[in-house]
Amino acid sequence: MTVRAVVKGVGHYLPSRVVENAEFEATLDTNDEWIRSRSGIERRHFASEGETTSTMATAAANAALKMAGLSADDIDAVIVATSTADLTFPSAATMVQAQLGMKGGFAFDIQAVCAGFVFALSNANALILSGQAKRVMVIGSETFSKIMDWTDRSTCVLFGDGAGAVLLEAQAGAGGTDDRGILSTDLNSDGTHRELLYVDGGVSTGTSGYLRMQGNQVFRHAVEKLSATANTAMDRAGVDSTDVDWIVPHQANIRIIQGTAKKLGLPMDKVVVTVQDHGNTSAASIPLALSVGVARGQIKQGDLLVTEAIGGGLAWGAVVLRW
Ligand code: UT7
Repeated sequence: MTVRAVVKGVGHYLPSRVVENAEFEATLDTNDEWIRSRSGIERRHFASEGETTSTMATAAANAALKMAGLSADDIDAVIVATSTADLTFPSAATMVQAQLGMKGGFAFDIQAVCAGFVFALSNANALILSGQAKRVMVIGSETFSKIMDWTDRSTCVLFGDGAGAVLLEAQAGAGGTDDRGILSTDLNSDGTHRELLYVDGGVSTGTSGYLRMQGNQVFRHAVEKLSATANTAMDRAGVDSTDVDWIVPHQANIRIIQGTAKKLGLPMDKVVVTVQDHGNTSAASIPLALSVGVARGQIKQGDLLVTEAIGGGLAWGAVVLRW
């Protein structure tokens, strides 16, 4: 018997405040056409006063619990992938644990920026396969609006806020590629590219800082590294691109999404795309896309999915799972 980490529920939360591209035209030398054609983004959600990474994460987790028909006490662990935790510490995950009303278990954050959810899925899978947890709530939640330099048109038009959550449960599998659950993972990072994407604040500066990005340089790395990690994960799982029902990519830029799909030999009708409505929500983008993909009726039980993401670090990776 093989143990598999199988998806029991998925959910998401988006703040009610929607900001269309045109709103930036009042304060910045930019326009809807540039943002749309260079990134594919049309609008994004921004958190309001009182909405934080932990409160949005809790709302997404509650939606995933509801779909699974389970309660908070049925969970052994909470992992929040985020670079925008409410406070330097404690972790957003322990705040979520308290907000969910969990009496036991353990909770911690994972910080791998836009690749955070892929890293969190991989770690949750390891906890389940090693028998340390039976059910893990894996959440991506971000309030990147809090780290935007609103005078920098090259970054502030690209990001948004939101949260998505996936509840994984240990289930018996046969050990083959027909099993439901996580079939393989691939994680990578290269710290020599730190200057391409970072926040210029933290405990060393006494400020929370602002996001800085050399977008075109990150772009150069993205398509190549994303297709390579997706191929590695597919090789490890024993599947190839003809077996794939859906790519659920990190939603940073439609041109990166299209370029990666093309390199993998997959048509765009096999890609879940939400970047137009959410912008880049960093670690939240993949679980948001999973939840929206299910709600749209695109992703169905039994489908083979490949998720892939890259972000600051640089850090990148992919997960192959059967829904
Ligand atoms: O999620 C983490 C990973 N991050 C990413 O994957 C982001 C990757 N990068 C990208 O998505 C793209 O590089 C961007 C959307 C950020 C930019 O697109 P680009 O085609 O690479 O444009 P660029 O940075 O080379 O800039 C082209 C021009 C520049 O003007 P000049 O130097 O050619 O005169 C920019 O100053 O566009 C200008 N520009 C803008 N113009 C209008 C930059 N931002 C804006 C703007 N509105 N908001």
